[in-house]
Amino acid sequence: MTLTYQIGFGNELESEAEPGILPHGRNSPQRPARGLVSELISGTTFTAPRSLNRRTYVFRAMPSVIHGRYQPAESKTFATPPFNSPPNPNQMRWDPFDVPDTGVPDTEQDFVDGMFTICGNGSPNGQSGTALHIYRATAPMTDRFFLDADGELLVMPVGGTLLVSTELGRLQVGPGELALIPRGIKFRVELPDGPSFGFVCENYGLPFRLPELGLIGSNGLANAVDFHVPDAWYEIEEKACTLTQKFCGTFWEASLGHSPLDVVAWRGNHVPAKFNMYDFVALGTATVDHPDPSIFCALSSPSDEVLGGNADLMVLPPRWAVAEDTFRPPGFHRNCVAEYLGVIAGKHFGKAGGLSPGGASLHNNWAAHGPDVETFELNRSVELPPRKIEDSLVFMIESRQPLQVTDMALSAPEFQRDYRDHWQGFVRRFGAPA
Ligand code: FE2
Repeated sequence: MTLTYQIGFGNELESEAEPGILPHGRNSPQRPARGLVSELISGTTFTAPRSLNRRTYVFRAMPSVIHGRYQPAESKTFATPPFNSPPNPNQMRWDPFDVPDTGVPDTEQDFVDGMFTICGNGSPNGQSGTALHIYRATAPMTDRFFLDADGELLVMPVGGTLLVSTELGRLQVGPGELALIPRGIKFRVELPDGPSFGFVCENYGLPFRLPELGLIGSNGLANAVDFHVPDAWYEIEEKACTLTQKFCGTFWEASLGHSPLDVVAWRGNHVPAKFNMYDFVALGTATVDHPDPSIFCALSSPSDEVLGGNADLMVLPPRWAVAEDTFRPPGFHRNCVAEYLGVIAGKHFGKAGGLSPGGASLHNNWAAHGPDVETFELNRSVELPPRKIEDSLVFMIESRQPLQVTDMALSAPEFQRDYRDHWQGFVRRFGAPA
């Protein structure tokens, strides 16, 4: 059974891997069925408004408190802001990062070790901000489980498929899909197709929710019916394994004598979800002009309604462009929020030869950007019949706080040191001799 995920509407979902587990009329009976224990996982403060309150009751074999002592562990390239370098006002762009070969001793890395942080703002301690990572996973997590206490994870594969087994069930996500893993939920990632790479947004602020639709009405953008939560699923395995927890930017490891994926049934709404970004219902102008990218908002972690969100996800799927007498690509602009853009599929045109899948750009707050000279010259004079933007899937994370870039991302060979050059050569027409 697949359930619709009604983000932000406070609804109660439930799922049983075996019938007769969930109690009726109460969530914490004196004796849960079949020797299970009940455990409450709260994703928001207890007294959060009903429409925003997030919590899940789980019925599991062993309570989560059964684990060894946490010891500090190595974090490798999975970093947490604040970083060393100050926020950088330059326009920045990265080619797709190479994925390490498989089968080479000492180079294989699972989903967690394969995380590489590009940029971030805020901090998990302050419970605001976000970080943008890429991941390059060449090995499955086997006897290792991960819990991110710092933030919710928004995972978007570009290549390869991820099987994400969580306490609340399993999600398989491939290119074009996204998975939302709530803060504090334990999970393991396996690779059914072999290596996988893609993008991850770690959200330290308010949980992602569907944005309000305002004058759009009751339909459109990311529809609630297209979000799916997993069925309850469990494994009872007594074995030595490790629980890795990211807590306030530090990695900690504790031993476990059993798999923590032992939840047989659950009830609540602090649950993982997946969404196919090709299901996003894109809206746009039917006459003239270039609407703001907010029309592509799929999920929002709100912050300030004037200065911008903590992290807003925009999805730009294949769509028709029909505007008349209009410069159709994104024009020259400056923006009070930071924009991190990543390419999932196809090619993102608009400036500097485009970007390939896995490539990304960052235009920090107020950084001027727009079409390169070639794109500008072409699109100011081109005929404008209706045109389908085919085979292209792009996302953007907008955040009100400037994004700091990690030193390792600035020194990576994939960092394009000539990105600014593509705007050079602009011809001034105003006041020029006839
Ligand atoms: Fe922009």
